[in-house]
Amino acid sequence: MAALTGKVAWVTGAGSGIGQAAAIALAKEGATVVLTGRRKEPLQETAAAIKKAGGKAEVKPGDLMKASAVTRIARDIEKKYGRCDILVNNAGLNILDRTWAKLTHAGAEQVLDGNLTSAFYCSSAVLPMMRKRKDGVLIHTSSMAGRTPSPLSGAAYSAAKHGVVAMSHVINMEECVNGIRSCVVCPGEVATPILDKRPIPVSKEERAKMAQSEDVGDLIRYVACLPPHVTINEVWITPTWNRGYVANLARTTKK
Ligand SMILES: NC(=O)c1ccc[n+]([C@@H]2O[C@H](COP(=O)([O-])OP(=O)(O)OC[C@H]3O[C@@H](n4cnc5c(N)ncnc54)[C@H](OP(=O)(O)O)[C@@H]3O)[C@@H](O)[C@H]2O)c1
Repeated sequence: MAALTGKVAWVTGAGSGIGQAAAIALAKEGATVVLTGRRKEPLQETAAAIKKAGGKAEVKPGDLMKASAVTRIARDIEKKYGRCDILVNNAGLNILDRTWAKLTHAGAEQVLDGNLTSAFYCSSAVLPMMRKRKDGVLIHTSSMAGRTPSPLSGAAYSAAKHGVVAMSHVINMEECVNGIRSCVVCPGEVATPILDKRPIPVSKEERAKMAQSEDVGDLIRYVACLPPHVTINEVWITPTWNRGYVANLARTTKK
């Protein structure tokens, strides 16, 4: 039997990139996967790929920056399945105008709400279901920008992702007594559509050297399959060809 047979996983940002890869990987392990994002079509594509491979998936679109949408989807999950064993709290975004010189109030609000507030909404929506069963795992996609602030990611994104790291650790501090585990994943650069919003375009060659969505999806699958008595609190997953390190080396080594 696959490791996640009978489990229900809610994956946010499941229409593309890391979320899509995680949803496919969890479904291969036997989980029934609920897919959320704002656009319906990419979610349907993910669901079709899962079903073609013999897995189970359901599409539940919604804007996770809106508390009402999060509550609606969580209630639907509880009504239909009576449980949510795994939350992949992965939806996120960034904006082109991210430097302080260009950042607007609306831009800051979008980045903070789209990465941090939405992650809080989803966590608090599933925790009651997990507490009832004394079991559950939350896996949040933060970022290396959640550990090291950077102008590459921008102040708002760096702040939001630091918030996601803090949120996850405090879930473990409070909910460990309820059998609930929280893991924050901090990826470095991953070749996904989010890179299309970079102020300096990222070439095809550079994307090929980065971590790929499937690498992070497989890590999420691994964390979700761990036995209930162990928690991986935090993971950094970066490309071996780490552009930050490479740039640093160029400044510190003589040719
Ligand atoms: N790629 C990287 O280098 C990298 C590095 C570190 C961390 N991350 C993080 O990894 C996560 C996944 O991103 P990705 O790299 O896979 O990029 P992506 O392909 O752009 O995926 C982001 C997904 O989130 C969804 N989403 C965004 N805002 C949403 C909202 N308000 N409500 C519901 N869904 C929303 C998007 O779908 P819709 O547009 O249809 O809503 C999209 O499918 C993000 O949290 C990102 O910050 C990425």
